[in-house]
Amino acid sequence: RRFSWRRGARTSVCIMEGANPMKILYAASEANPFAKSGGLADVAGALPKALVKDGVDARVIMPLYGDLKFRDKLEYVTNYSVPVGWRSQYCGLFKAEVNGVTYYFLDNEYYFKRRGLYGFYDDGERFAFFSRAVLETLFYIDFTPDIINCNDWQTALVPVYLNLYYRHLDKFNRIKTIFTIHNIAYQGKYGTDILEDTCGIGHRDQHIVEYDGCANFMKGAFETADKITTVSPTYAQEILDPWFSYGLDALLREKQYKLCGILNGIDMEANNPATDPHIAFNYDVNNFEEGKAKCKEALQDRFGLNKDGSPVFAMVSRMVGMKGFDLVQSVADGLVDRGIELVILGSGESQYENFFSDLCGRHPGRVGTYIGFEPTLSQEIYAGADAFIMPSKSEPCGLAQMVACRYGTASHHPRDRRSARLHPRLHPRRGQRLHLRGLQRPRAVRCLLPRTGPLLQQGRLEQPYQVRHGVRLQLGCLCQEL
Ligand code: GLC
Repeated sequence: RRFSWRRGARTSVCIMEGANPMKILYAASEANPFAKSGGLADVAGALPKALVKDGVDARVIMPLYGDLKFRDKLEYVTNYSVPVGWRSQYCGLFKAEVNGVTYYFLDNEYYFKRRGLYGFYDDGERFAFFSRAVLETLFYIDFTPDIINCNDWQTALVPVYLNLYYRHLDKFNRIKTIFTIHNIAYQGKYGTDILEDTCGIGHRDQHIVEYDGCANFMKGAFETADKITTVSPTYAQEILDPWFSYGLDALLREKQYKLCGILNGIDMEANNPATDPHIAFNYDVNNFEEGKAKCKEALQDRFGLNKDGSPVFAMVSRMVGMKGFDLVQSVADGLVDRGIELVILGSGESQYENFFSDLCGRHPGRVGTYIGFEPTLSQEIYAGADAFIMPSKSEPCGLAQMVACRYGTASHHPRDRRSARLHPRLHPRRGQRLHLRGLQRPRAVRCLLPRTGPLLQQGRLEQPYQVRHGVRLQLGCLCQEL
């Protein structure tokens, strides 16, 4: 059945409710509030919650990392063996419920009890195990999803394994799969030698995951998933262009018939400056001047910054060049010398982690750096900063900028990058956009800061970037189509 995607076509949502709610298993390598390195965790936290509110039985499945938050709150369910190539590996199953959403955690200490989420020599094997384990888990829980929504390369082998090894079983033969691209830069590329022994994909089937002489997990998902989605409609167009596609545009053009973009949203409840319990002072459009000033003071206290009237610029992001850390690094000393205070939160490539930790040491009272993930702290930053900077080279969606908007914090996107377009409403007027380098000029800073007020007056704080009705509707339609 086909449904129109017309906005406001409220009627089709009710298909998702009723006696037999649609069942969606959301497979992700990170999810709020348990583990986060980037925006995927926010979506994996917010979208299932919104779907559950719509009457969908949405559940999340993710690895049980060593430094998972709330580890002690998990409930043990059972354990079983998972085939990984020619071996069998232990898999423990734990669960927890947050906001009505059931989260399943897959435990294997050899693979996941490490510091950090990714960046290990055997990431390919770790997530091949995880993808296979997602499917094995279905034998041990009383839940057969209609749809498995996989996200990024870490779960890209789920549809591949499903088609190769599980399709013939009753429990699996009606399951449909959606593969969501949050960032095409990370494809899970390895030498083809890992396919047989490590991934358990025999010679005959290797063409499914082989691309350009490599094993490419994401390519496997493109071949086998029923639908491919991206996190904004523009990104769905952009990745058809070699500039953005990291080598996959030709393949995606072939798969265009099953590719579509659905704009992400943010959790408007959790990110509400009027009720957020983690910020120093709650504010809304009526008292934002007082509220933001108090939150700024609290933020400066938190990071030991001088309270001398300097503007505070903040960045909350994965520390990678793609998010513009290279640019910020090149102007950071200049910004500080010109009287700007910087607050940086994130983790990622060690060159940036080291640089910003060092910057903090070199400019006491002017720079605050926090390496890692701390959801409450990021909210304090969004609320307390005068401006949010994130000069991404390419931005598949831009959730952080949406959250900054929600907290009434002017968000800065430099013009000199061919960044994927954010939702148009997120952009301050074109002419007002400034180059990051330009920010070093005092005049540019003076231009940026007064934007906070007008942004709020235009109602940015109230504008619904939540996992909107429209988003849920589109996902609902997509699922119905399958
Ligand atoms: C990735 C993208 C970012 C997006 C997020 C959530 O981190 O880089 O633009 O907002 O995923 O989909």
